[in-house]
This record gives sequence, structure tokens and C-alpha cells, in this order.
Amino acid sequence: MVDEKRPLRSRQWYGGNSKSAFMHRSWMKNQGMPDDAFDGRPIIGICNTWSEMTPCNAHLRGLAERVKFGVYEAGGFPVEFPVLSPSESQTRPTAMLYRNLAAMDVEESIRCYPIDGIVLMAGCDKTTPALVMGAASCDIPTILVSGGPMLNGVVKGERVGSGTAVFRWVEELKAGTMTESDFLAAEAGHSRSAGSCMTMGTASTMAAMVEALGLGLFQNAAIPAVDARRNQLAQLAGRRIVDLVREDVKMSRILTREAFENAIRVNAAIGGSTNAVLHLIAIARRIGVDLTLDDWDRLGRSVPTIVDLMPSGRFLMEDFYYAGGLPAVMRALAEHDLLHRDALCVAGRTVGEQVADAEVWSREVIREWSNPLRAEGGIAVLRGNLAPRGAVLKPSAASPELFKHRGRAVVFSSIEDYHARINDPDLDVDERSILVLQNCGPKGYPGMAEVGNMGLPKKLLEKGVRDMIRISDARMSGTAYGTVILHVAPEAAEGGPLAFVRTGDWIEVDIDARRLHLDVNADELARRAAGFTPQVPPISSGYQHIYRTHVEQADLGCDFDFANMSRELSLQRVSH
Ligand code: FES
Repeated sequence: MVDEKRPLRSRQWYGGNSKSAFMHRSWMKNQGMPDDAFDGRPIIGICNTWSEMTPCNAHLRGLAERVKFGVYEAGGFPVEFPVLSPSESQTRPTAMLYRNLAAMDVEESIRCYPIDGIVLMAGCDKTTPALVMGAASCDIPTILVSGGPMLNGVVKGERVGSGTAVFRWVEELKAGTMTESDFLAAEAGHSRSAGSCMTMGTASTMAAMVEALGLGLFQNAAIPAVDARRNQLAQLAGRRIVDLVREDVKMSRILTREAFENAIRVNAAIGGSTNAVLHLIAIARRIGVDLTLDDWDRLGRSVPTIVDLMPSGRFLMEDFYYAGGLPAVMRALAEHDLLHRDALCVAGRTVGEQVADAEVWSREVIREWSNPLRAEGGIAVLRGNLAPRGAVLKPSAASPELFKHRGRAVVFSSIEDYHARINDPDLDVDERSILVLQNCGPKGYPGMAEVGNMGLPKKLLEKGVRDMIRISDARMSGTAYGTVILHVAPEAAEGGPLAFVRTGDWIEVDIDARRLHLDVNADELARRAAGFTPQVPPISSGYQHIYRTHVEQADLGCDFDFANMSRELSLQRVSH
């Protein structure tokens, strides 16, 4: 229970008979709220990324109503408010540019409002990490309710996954094996219900991370958005957050180092998105857990990918839920001693208790440990003179025949340069070449766009080539696949070695040895570095100026350098 000496934070606004208490209560009453709403019961903020411009979250207003039912039932008082909602599908130049802005919005909203506990409502890729980052900076009792995935996409009787199918169709259209009318007709079947992308892309991965971290309730990740059980989960979350406030269970009790280690292993087992690397490091730093790229490589390496979902496999989130969902995967990890069972969940149980009875209903979707989709899941962290601070690759989405490769670089200095030349019949490229894209990192783009999985040259697609090694300081959509090396740090625009690669240089990639080497001698690299001038597009807004000035490199999660500067002080301010 809440310590009597430390009353609810909201009492500072609503308690007593001062002029300011009168004003705070009176103005709220213009919405028809009764007197006893302010009698000392927990005030629960519902932080909502509902937006019609974020189609994946467009149903969250309705879901928030179910959270409110639960809050009322448990004796709390719910107050919903909106925050910035960066949409992965609609935002230009990239939603990642606005993740940190949304995180600031959440953090400052929690600080400035009379909130004792918070339910975060998110679904689309960047909305989940943004909300958790912002709340982590405040460290009050918190639960996240994900919006849930869309139903399976179905086109011409075929199961198709968000994004994943589009990458294929675009290449087929380019190669002339798909007609334009079929391409257009596929749009509605591809996205046929409310919810987020239903592959194991970034949205589903982050919803799984929330559940694995213990910040979401049982089955938070996989219940489809339109399944009635999603409403049940929201209502239960509403009840539970009131208990968390009364029990004074702050977010830092949930987001421990053990919780992050669980999440990294879960990411490996589900074949999750590379974007999770950035987001979890950023969240961990905000809550005061020292999580590094090396943790990702070390912890995920021994974990097989047992979930057969696109983009690495065959099925989709709806199938995953019917097959048992994330609890079944976590139980498998626990049975192989790869889960910290004692980590606490917001449900009030330990992770071990939460998943003890989980069952698998389809061994096609959630495979046996001894029959994995990929023997080695996880994220490979490559280093070398081309990426001194690291680069990442998802082995489960890569082609095994390219795991060890030496190829000649074909360099594009920007995404515009890539678009201008990639389909030039005279481009000097073959299937053994390595495509290199510069200046698409956090500062260079700015926002580190999902362009790392560059489409292949048309002339090679026509020859039947479907994968090549690609290297960049950019990100890749979680719905994409291929032998794609991403997040090279430092980025080219920051003067990292990626900026000094020239077409014709030889590059060596050895994924098993975690090596990424530019075969150019040190003197020559120093000569190229001496003539370096950063290539960045002009700043087009005040926020972009803040972003480019303060964003950190990929190995630190691309948060702002000031986000954690006064963490101790800021936590005191929120806790009072
Ligand atoms: Fe929103 Fe994929 S575009 S979840």
C-alpha cells in the first residue's frame, strides 16, 4: 500500500481547500465529473497515441474506453490525454525522427499532470518505444496496452504479411512478373482490419518486448486488434494499474537488468526486428540500466528462432496467437534456463509464474526447440575498421551463402544518389558486389530512415538474383529481409569510416566471426579522412536542428544526449 507519509502525487493538485485546489478541481468538473472523483482515489493517466494519421493506432480511442472501465472498477479515476503519434506508414521523412519528440511529449505530460499511474496506449512501431522511454524518465507505476496486430493479410487466397509482401511485389513489378492492376488490387487485402503490422516486424516485436519486459499483461503482444480478448486485456490493465499505484510498484521495479535480458532472448526466439536494438538500449538508459550492443550479441546468440513468422518464416501474428503466443515461447526459454523467472511483471506475478502453464497449439507456428526455424536467432553485432562502434545484422533474415563474403563496393553517397543510379543499365555491379549506402544515419538523413534494405539493381533482379550484401548507417523495416548490415556507427555524416568507402574498394564480411572489414590500408583511409566534409541536407525546422544537434549514435539507441543528464533530479521532481 502507499506509504501514508508519501501520499498520492495527485493530492498536490486536488487535495485541500486552497485556491489552486479549487481551480484544479473546478475546471475538471466542467466535464461533468462528480465531487468524489477528487476524494483521494488514484488518478490514472491514459496516454493515447490514437490518431487517424496513424492507422495502426486508429482504434485506440475505443480501446481506451475499456481501460477506463477497469480503472473505475478498481476505484481509480481515469483521465485520457493525447500525445504525438509518429506513424510509420504516413510520416515523412521518417517516423524515427519523431520518436524522441514523442518521448519528450510523454515525459513532460506525466510531469505536468496530476497523475499517480499511467496506462500507455500504443501500437505502431515508434509509438511503443516513445511512450516507454518517456514514462521511464518519470518512473511512476506504468502498464502498456498494445493495440494488437491486424488480422492476417489475404490476397488471392495467399496469406500476405504487412510490408514483407510489399517488398516482394515491388521487386516483381520491377522485374515484370506482376501487373500494375494486381499490384493496386493487393492494397486492401494487405491491410484488412484495425491494428498494427501483422508480421514479426517492429510493431509486433516491440509489443512482444513490452510483454517480455513484464510491462504488459499476459498475451499483450499477439491478441489481434479486433479480437474481443483485446478489450478484456485493456479492461484488466485498467484494474491492475490502480493496484500498482496502491502497491507503489514503480516502473523501475519492472524494468530491471534481468527484464532486459529476458527481452533480448525473446527477441532472438521470435526472430524480432533489428529496430528493437535501438529502442531497448534507449529505454534501458532512461531507466538507469546499462545495456549495450554486446549484450545483444552475447545473450541472443545461443537462442534459436522457434517462431515461424514472416519476414523470416511463413506465418503471421494472428496464427501466432492461436498457436499459444508469446507465453509459450517464454516457457520454452525458461525450460532451457534462458529466462530470469524471478523478474516481476505488472500483473503482480513473476515471469516464471506468468508463463508456467503456457501451451503450444501449433508446432508449425511455434516450433520445437530441437527443430527451429533458424538455429541461431538473435542479432549479430559486427565490428571492424568499417564499424568501430558496431553494426547489426539479423542472421535469421539473411542468406547463409553470404555469411562469409568478400566483395567489391558499389557506393551511393545518399538515398537520392541510390535512386538515381540503381537501375542504370551501365551501373558496374554484379551479384558478388556489396551495395554501400552512406549518409542515412541519425544525423545524416536525419532520423535514420528504414532504407538499409536497398532494393537490388533491376538488371540483377531480372537475372533472378534475390539477395546481396548491403551495408549502411540506416535502419531496416522489421518487415524486411535480406543480408543487410545496418546501424553502422559512427555514421558517415559524423565522419565514421563508412564515409570513406569508395566504389571498387574490397569489403570482407564474416558474420560468424562478427567481422566487418574495409580492405583499404590505414594511410589511404587517413588521407580520405583528411578531406572529409559532412554531407547533410539543410535543416528545415527548429526541431530538426535540436534533433541533429543532440541525437546520439545508433550504438547508444539514438536518444537525445540530454535525455538522461539530470535523471536523479528529474525522478525526484516526479516522485515528490
Ligand atoms: Fe504502423 Fe506497421 S505501419 S505498425
